[in-house]
Amino acid sequence: MRRTKRLGRYHLTERIAYGGMAEIFRGFTYDDDGFRRDVAIKKLLPHYVEDKSFIDMLTDEFKLVSHLKHPNIAEVFELTEIEDTLLIAMEYVDGKDLRSAVEKARQRGVSLQFDDIAYVLARALDGMHHAHVARDEKNQPLRIVHRDFSPSNILVAYDGTVKICDFGIAKATHNRVQTKTGIIKGKVKYMSPEQAFGRKLDWRSDIFSAGSVLYELATGAAPFTAANEIDLIFAVRDAEPRPSGQVNRHIPAELQQIIEKSMTRSRSGRYQTAMEFRDALLGFLRRYNPKYRRTKLARFLKKLWAEEIEKELRAMEDFVLDASPSQDLGKNLIADALGPDATYSKFSPNPTSNVDPDRAVSGINGIESEQTIDDPVHAAKTEMIQSPKADKRRATQPVRQARGKSDEVDPIHNEKTALTDTSDDLAGEKTTVETPPKGHSVNE
Ligand SMILES: Nc1ncnc2c1ncn2[C@@H]1O[C@H](COP(=O)(O)OP(=O)(O)OP(=O)(O)O)[C@@H](O)[C@H]1O
Ligand SMILES: [Mg+2]
Repeated sequence: MRRTKRLGRYHLTERIAYGGMAEIFRGFTYDDDGFRRDVAIKKLLPHYVEDKSFIDMLTDEFKLVSHLKHPNIAEVFELTEIEDTLLIAMEYVDGKDLRSAVEKARQRGVSLQFDDIAYVLARALDGMHHAHVARDEKNQPLRIVHRDFSPSNILVAYDGTVKICDFGIAKATHNRVQTKTGIIKGKVKYMSPEQAFGRKLDWRSDIFSAGSVLYELATGAAPFTAANEIDLIFAVRDAEPRPSGQVNRHIPAELQQIIEKSMTRSRSGRYQTAMEFRDALLGFLRRYNPKYRRTKLARFLKKLWAEEIEKELRAMEDFVLDASPSQDLGKNLIADALGPDATYSKFSPNPTSNVDPDRAVSGINGIESEQTIDDPVHAAKTEMIQSPKADKRRATQPVRQARGKSDEVDPIHNEKTALTDTSDDLAGEKTTVETPPKGHSVNE
């Protein structure tokens, strides 16, 4: 038995990753219905927490991105100062990032197929487009650019759901590095040429980055390589990758053309919106595999990650709640932007006062969602911690749908809407986006 670690409203379980900027934990909390909500917690490393100007920048960025609500964007719940640390709480995506998936597949001697690649990128572009055209309460464009669109920031759930994460982080980090050293830093590999020149960016920079990701997935090789970072920056600036069809002659011609267009050096030659790029991929997908379903990707992922899925399930069963009586929920730095009804405000570290905390986790009671009844992996993952309140609901109400499956419009998955994506938010936004933002082309 292991004990969770309490931090504010959250119980931390496994550490998922450790990077240059933060440690990432898996965790959970309880919503106001007594149901467990899985979260991912980024805990910033101490030297970032000490840097006041960085925190201010991060806060400003997160105030913008905290409004992004979309099925293909991992929702940010809080940016909170607590116990001498700073945490970012966000929606947990029950799967792995695309970089890990590609690496794992390579080790196994398999790879994502062209239809799966097109599907994953199309869904990620849906999320990206939503961010690009997002507006504030006064209907002013927020002009959000991700700046670090890369395989490690594309999360692919075991059920094939795709979510982008880390909006806002690249800008704050980049500003910090620039002020301190005056040099460009970041994941150069997926940068756009204008980004590698240190120019002002508009959303077409993300389109180039998405093109680089697509190139790498389809060819199995990065579009730009060099012996050191400086040379890599020059290679990205030149934007002359070897044509994808030469690296992998099996790539269908249509997909090659899509890659080429998205990675055009001049911004005006690229897809002008993420939605246009997505539509090109969906068009390709329709012709390449008209019967494509997300379940194909899910099957691939569940096989690929079978051991990890099993291990993760066991790990969750092994935890008992830290019965810390601490009432400290920390100070949410973006609370004013989120407003009083924000999702996080309904989170509580305790399911109900009646539950023996030691039994709350180990007493997990699997409840199968109606939708996932034939899906043992997913069903087991949607288990909810038994609490008297939840139990009462269970007796009287149909069980709530699995997380992330409820209202998602999936044009490929759902045959009726296939190929003419009519998802409301996108259709609505279409009318507001006629021209790309003004900016200089690197060729100008
Ligand atoms: N919301 C989440 N749900 C599930 N796993 C996540 C979530 N956010 C991050 N992860 C996992 O943690 C890993 C590390 O995330 P993190 O953002 O710190 O580093 P990175 O993505 O590798 O690099 P960077 O974001 O700096 O480009 C991700 O690659 C992913 O596997
Ligand atoms: Mg990341």
